[in-house]
Amino acid sequence: TKGGYPHFMFKEIYEQPESLASTAAGLEPARLEAAANALLAARNVYIVGAGTSYHAGLILAHLLPRLKLTPVPIVASEYAAYEPLFDKDDFAIAVSQSGETIDTIKAVRAMRERGVRVAAVTNVVGSTLSRESDLVIYTRAGPEIGVAATKTFTTQVLTLSALYVSALRLLGYDVAERERELKAAPDLARRVVEKTAGTAKDLARRLRQKPSAYYLGRGAALPVAMEGALKLKEVAYIHAEAYPAGESKHGPIALVEEDFPVVFVFSDPATREKTLSNVAEMKARGAFAIGTVPARSDYAKKLDVAIEVPDAGELTAPIAHVIPLQMLAYFAAVERGYDPDKPRNLAKTVTVE
Ligand code: M6R
Repeated sequence: TKGGYPHFMFKEIYEQPESLASTAAGLEPARLEAAANALLAARNVYIVGAGTSYHAGLILAHLLPRLKLTPVPIVASEYAAYEPLFDKDDFAIAVSQSGETIDTIKAVRAMRERGVRVAAVTNVVGSTLSRESDLVIYTRAGPEIGVAATKTFTTQVLTLSALYVSALRLLGYDVAERERELKAAPDLARRVVEKTAGTAKDLARRLRQKPSAYYLGRGAALPVAMEGALKLKEVAYIHAEAYPAGESKHGPIALVEEDFPVVFVFSDPATREKTLSNVAEMKARGAFAIGTVPARSDYAKKLDVAIEVPDAGELTAPIAHVIPLQMLAYFAAVERGYDPDKPRNLAKTVTVE
């Protein structure tokens, strides 16, 4: 049941502290290590998923070059073009909340046929994906009823970060601080939910009549921007596109005029300063500049509306910054009179190609 909440999407956004805590508690170090070992030995690392799960995968893809690994992110429905690469020296991580998305399952089948070892990250025990993979790592978000993925995304990000930290440990790095950071994720999510709901709601009111918005971010903030844009499209039916902030100058900026909303995601500590220059360019064209920024920083001053997010380390910042974007989409849907639990044209699980 909705347990007193107006919608499942709202309930599931608020459940994130708990779903992160149960996911963290359920992560088995031996499984993570088996996957991390396979990862480190791989020639290519395919990261495959659809929609929100693909976005979670992109966050891991951003980290892998630091381990001298070659990530090959694949939108599940597009796997065929990569088929000639698939080989027994490769490893794949397939991300799917339901474990039943046909595009992801087909990609996994094609990979395994050519000898690629596959680790699944899924929320559903006994799902097709879990049965057809070499190794399974479960997120424990609990059932997600809202069609828009929310708590499953943040638990995927936590799980993939834990895999990255496990690989770092195997390489002999001191990971104590990163482990502390991951452990603190549920508390971080709790503070984010408490502190950002009000601003997200006010902002949703201001976006109510807007036909379109951009979401911009650099580095690991880009997948967070992509996820924010997907949420707004899905439940509020406002056209939203995400771009790498730097790429926005190469075309998308042409659309920007007075009051055009641009949401900047400042989750990635390494790219914040550069993102500021894009804020200035957009504002010079009259954009309504919005952003998720670390609390007590100067970034807020550069924006028209800033959602201040409790400061977080780089692994958990995507979790902290996506939560207000989920809320923004939720409140925008409600403001516009739509039921965010049942977006038109969408099914919770897509089982046809
Ligand atoms: O069950 P999966 O994670 O494989 O689903 C993948 C996508 O269909 C899913 O994330 C979809 O994009 C959601 N509606 C996003 O909110």
